[in-house]
Amino acid sequence: MTATAPTPAAVPRHLAVIMDGNGRWAERRRRPRIIGHRAGARAVNVCIDFCLERGIRALTLFAFSSENWGRPQEEVGALMKLFLNALDREVEELDRRGVRVRFIGERERFSAGIRERMRAAETQTLANTRLDLVIAASYGGRQDITDAARALAADVAAGKLRAEDIDEAAVASRMALADLPPPDLFIRTGGDHRISNFLLWQLAYTELWFTELLWPELDAATLQQAMDDFAGRERRFGLTSAQVADALPEKTHA
Ligand code: IPE
Ligand code: IPE
Ligand code: MG
Repeated sequence: MTATAPTPAAVPRHLAVIMDGNGRWAERRRRPRIIGHRAGARAVNVCIDFCLERGIRALTLFAFSSENWGRPQEEVGALMKLFLNALDREVEELDRRGVRVRFIGERERFSAGIRERMRAAETQTLANTRLDLVIAASYGGRQDITDAARALAADVAAGKLRAEDIDEAAVASRMALADLPPPDLFIRTGGDHRISNFLLWQLAYTELWFTELLWPELDAATLQQAMDDFAGRERRFGLTSAQVADALPEKTHA
């Protein structure tokens, strides 16, 4: 009985999401792709509401990848406008609901207007603790690892760190999301089964869940399906099933 009963640990602390399928959603309706992005912005709220209701403490959303800059100029421009509008529209309400907003990715590539709003959103919501909302924008997992490598090299060059002292903790502390638990659950909508240069380091032991549903179609029932699936999985972290079962009572009371 106890072996299969959901435990508090079965609720992910940190959910990471690739919001994919906006373009196809619009194309199926014979509408321009940007209409799909607009519809996708609504699904972001569905996801945030779900996390707040279920007590999920951190949510990282992949909004725009390093590679997405290579899309047609028209689409990139429209996405930037949408991004700006969303920042203007949503931050007040997020703040009111106790959400701390942060951005990861290459901020320098955005316009001054967007950078300023990102900074303002982060400052305004800094003290909130109900949900950590991380928006990955102009983010790439390889870039993240590269930045960490550069920071380590700089510390070695400055004499603050010895090369032989570089361990996993030293790398991890220089990566994005260093202060959050690693994602427990990853969700990708849109039917493709790939990581697309999202959190490469941080997803090492994350449970992966995919759905054919396109991002604008996202609803609470689908998110619940992912939660149920997650709750039934055994996370072994390289150990044996017997070892994990032995450790379970300790973990539940932790
Ligand atoms: C995800 O939807 C949003 C961004 C990458 C900005 P897509 O625009 O990739 O939609 P599809 O995959 O082409 O349908
Ligand atoms: C991943 O989706 C990036 C975001 C959702 C922001 P893509 O649509 O860019 O990924 P690929 O090209 O299908 O791998
Ligand atoms: Mg896509």
